[in-house]
Amino acid sequence: MRIDVFTIFPAIFDSPLREGLLGKAVRKGIVEVRVHDIREYAPGKHRQVDDAPFGGGAGMVMKPEPLFSAVTGALGYGMDELDRLRREVSVIMLTPRGARLTQSKVAALASLPHLALVCGRYEGVDERVLEHLCSETLSIGDYVLSGGEFAALVVIEAVSRLLPGVLGNEASLREESFSGGTLEYPQYTRPADFRGWKVPEVLLSGDHAAVERWRREAAREWTRKVRPDLLGEEVEAGGEGGAEGGEE
Ligand code: ADE
Repeated sequence: MRIDVFTIFPAIFDSPLREGLLGKAVRKGIVEVRVHDIREYAPGKHRQVDDAPFGGGAGMVMKPEPLFSAVTGALGYGMDELDRLRREVSVIMLTPRGARLTQSKVAALASLPHLALVCGRYEGVDERVLEHLCSETLSIGDYVLSGGEFAALVVIEAVSRLLPGVLGNEASLREESFSGGTLEYPQYTRPADFRGWKVPEVLLSGDHAAVERWRREAAREWTRKVRPDLLGEEVEAGGEGGAEGGEE
């Protein structure tokens, strides 16, 4: 898979693309990530990429010209070939205004040959970029980052680990367990007794069926505590276990 990233902070991507499983996938050529500096496509001595919003208001808005030039230029399309570009490449704007990223969306993206991730910055991006350059928008959650760079990394990381050859079968099995409606069950490793905090006896029993049952129940219990919405249950505002329900 090929992923092109458009950003005014290309250096943010340096070490995440070198480290861990993602770094390995890049080195193996399973995912080819090219990071483009939008500023290089901005005209003029000052290479201005943002301007004040029409209608007034706080903050600056990213200008359309550098973004259109960057994406069409770097990907080798003319400005009169936007339809073909959007047919051949999924051009995705990362923005808190976007559609929510989920594991099933990640899986859908992983089946595509070519993504272009456009990182918005400042307080917004000229809407014509969304309308005429991007094919879709994505948000990684209901909170605001200063820009789309870390969101783009989340997409790259989540998508890459699903590509054949990155993880093996383990990934798909785990994904299934997530989309199975609960969060993962708790895991333990040695020592069986750490400062008097003991691993649940059943996990040491060698009784696979009992272990299965315990894991299923523990997963449900945990999910009920922190994400009751996944079980279709009422979200308790300020409930135990760190769930911050009742915001939506
Ligand atoms: N840019 C700023 N906040 C974001 C978010 N939550 N998701 C995606 N892109 C963003």
